[in-house]
Order: sequence, then C-alpha cells, then structure tokens
Amino acid sequence: MYEPKMELTPEQEAILQGKEGKTKAKMMECLVRYGDVFGAKRLAPLTYKTGHLVTSFGISMLTTIYPLMDELIEAGLKAEGGFTADPRPMEFENCSANPLEKLVFKKIIYGRQQEYEGMLKKVGLKSDDSFTCTCYLPEVGNAPKKGDVISWAESSAVVYANSVLGAKCNRNSGVLELFGTILGYAPEFGFLTDEGRKADYKVIVKGDHLPEAQILGSAIGMKVMEKVPYIVGLDKFLKPLPDEDTVAYLKDMGAASASNGAVGLYHVEGITPEAKEQGEKLLKDDAKEYIVDEAEIERVYKSYPIMWKKKDKAPQRAFIGCPHLTYKQLVDWTNKFEAGLKETGRKKLTCYTVLTAAPAVVKKFKATPDYARLMATGAHLASICPLMYADNPLCGAKRLITNSNKLRTYTFAKYAKDEELLNILVGKEGK
Ligand code: F3S
Repeated sequence: MYEPKMELTPEQEAILQGKEGKTKAKMMECLVRYGDVFGAKRLAPLTYKTGHLVTSFGISMLTTIYPLMDELIEAGLKAEGGFTADPRPMEFENCSANPLEKLVFKKIIYGRQQEYEGMLKKVGLKSDDSFTCTCYLPEVGNAPKKGDVISWAESSAVVYANSVLGAKCNRNSGVLELFGTILGYAPEFGFLTDEGRKADYKVIVKGDHLPEAQILGSAIGMKVMEKVPYIVGLDKFLKPLPDEDTVAYLKDMGAASASNGAVGLYHVEGITPEAKEQGEKLLKDDAKEYIVDEAEIERVYKSYPIMWKKKDKAPQRAFIGCPHLTYKQLVDWTNKFEAGLKETGRKKLTCYTVLTAAPAVVKKFKATPDYARLMATGAHLASICPLMYADNPLCGAKRLITNSNKLRTYTFAKYAKDEELLNILVGKEGK
C-alpha cells in the first residue's frame, strides 16, 4: 500500500484505501504519487468540474489506453461535469488524403478512432462537437472562471486558462488529467499556489508594431522555458479583454510559448486578470529581464529551420488554425483571401489550404454568407488537429506551410508569418 507524503482528507484517504472500489483507488494513487513527486501539500478540490482531454485520438499502437478505458467504464466511472477533448486527427471530406494516406490513417495509425470515441462518450465526453483545443471560446463554452481549480493537460488550453481566464491548472499529462476530472481533485503545487503564479522573468516588448503573436510566443518560450513571464509593452497595442483580437493574439502567443518552450502561465501587463490586479507585484524579487525588440523577433524568426527536402519548391498544403481559429479569425482570413485574390487576379488560392476551427465555430461560420465567400477562394474548413494529420511519414513528406509555431515545431512544416503566408496563397509571391 502506498504511503502518501501529502496530507489527505478522510474522504480522499478512504478512496485510496479502496472503500469506493479498486479502480478509483488506483486512480487516486496515481494522483497522489504525482502530487508527491512535485511536493504537493494536499489534493485541492476542483471548483470547475468540466474537464478537457488531450488524448482525443484512437492510435492503434497506444495499446495501454484501451484496457484502462475499459476498466473505467466497467467500474461505472464518469466525469461528473463532462469534458471536451482535443481535435480529431482526420476529416477526409474537408482535409483530403489520397487512397494510401486514407488506408494508413484508418487502418494503421488511427485504426481505433471510432472505438475510442465510443469509450470517451461513456466516461463523459460532452458531444460529437466537443473536439477542439479551443474549448474555452464562447461558442464551445468550456471556460472556467478566475480562481477556478481545473484538471486539464492540453498545453495550449492550459496556458490560456491560467493566463487569460485566471484559472488554476498545472501542465498535467494525458490520462492524469482525466483521473483528476473524474475524482474531482488536483494536486496542489505549482500554478495552483500563489507563489507558483509569480513571474520569474520580466519580458519587455519594444518597438512600434505589435509583434507577430506566434513569433513573440516562440521567443518567450525558448527563453523562459517552463518559467512564468510577466510581459510589458503589449497593452499599448491590445484592447482590453474580451476584445476578440486580443483573445486571438493571446491564444496564439500562448500556444507558441507552450510548445517552443513549456510556458504554462504568463501575465500581460494591463491585460490579463492577475496582472491587472497586482501589476509588478507579480514579479519575483530576483526576476530576470528579457528584452524583445524588432531585431530579436527577426533573429528568432530567422532561426527556424526549413525542413523540406526541396526547399525552393512551392508548398503543397497550407494549414491555418493551430490552435483552432476564433470566429473572427475565420472572417478575417476570408476577407484577406478575397482581397488578395482580387489584387492578383487569381480565382483560387495557390495551394490546398485548410483552415481549422472548433466544430461549434465552424457551424456558426457556415450559417453566414462568409462561408460561401471562403469556399469560393478554394480554401477548406475543417475541425481536425493539423499536427495529428501531419505527424506521420506520408503527410510529413509533403511540403506543408503554416503560420503556427506549434505545428512548425512538431512537424516538417515551414513557418510563414501571416502576411507572407497570405502573399504565397494569393499568388503575390512565387514560393
Ligand atoms: Fe490544437 Fe492540435 Fe494545434 S491540439 S494547438 S490544433 S497541435
């Protein structure tokens, strides 16, 4: 029997002792051991019970997950507040694949997708529309409030929830976040404590223009790694929350900082809730400084390797929407594509372009005339995870281009700034 280092309540102790069944006891032991490793003093009750799962894909080779899910289902365990999950890996009608790719996707890589989705439903998946990494957007509605303790793992969602919503969540791993959601507890350490939410770095953004969110996030992530940055200099460009452009900027910056580094929480002076309340009191006494000016943004951008075999060739597929786009970003891209094509005199975009957004955002967008305008440009609209699509030898060998730093980091996709990508897609630039 495992001897916890942390203090447990009688109720938690009883679960650990198996009073509520063997499966719950094992889940509790995992959670307690995880907390003990990080010096947690106790298990904090979740104050917001809706979870978000990072493991949304039925990968055939992930053999350990299926018996685990079977055991949860047999024990009748379910997330009380339900959960949303990361995007699906494939959606052939909106993100095409050739016959060989389809075969590999359906039979080899994600051969157990349907079966796994059935399992997710039994343990609390909210609906078929719950597959997105931007679960916190208003159209999806899985948005904890400031101060809420939650149990999530998806890095882009965790950093958004902590920083922009002011919720409290560590960068948990997949499955542990599900155990926490079902049990209703999270080990109290790191971002669940006031001390853990203090900033180790003061990041000073200089310059006359708002830096590209994805490059600023990447620069910050690579500098501070898993530490907490307090960012000054953005409030002169960004409108107060919940302005939609600010939401989109912070979403994209955060995802890049969480994947090019391991940032789980950032504060933006004058914008994010804790920075608005506490200002520079959030800085630790020994906080270091990092200045990000235009030269630094350019240095970081130039450091991205181009992994294509034929570097000078045109892209074969473009992905926009990792993390998933907001409704306004969809409208903005539609406007930019239309205007760009008009300027170059082309009818369609130069390569197969997929925009990705949450199913609920896609539904809302499809109900407007903008959808037909976007389709007229030749673009496609899907709700997949481009990373799950591209992270295999067949699709990875294609020349993918993206404005997502997360996708660039984990695949062979080439990064392009928003404007560069637009110019390539509307035919203003050759390559
Ligand atoms: Fe979302 Fe997949 Fe990108 S989960 S952040 S679209 S890697």
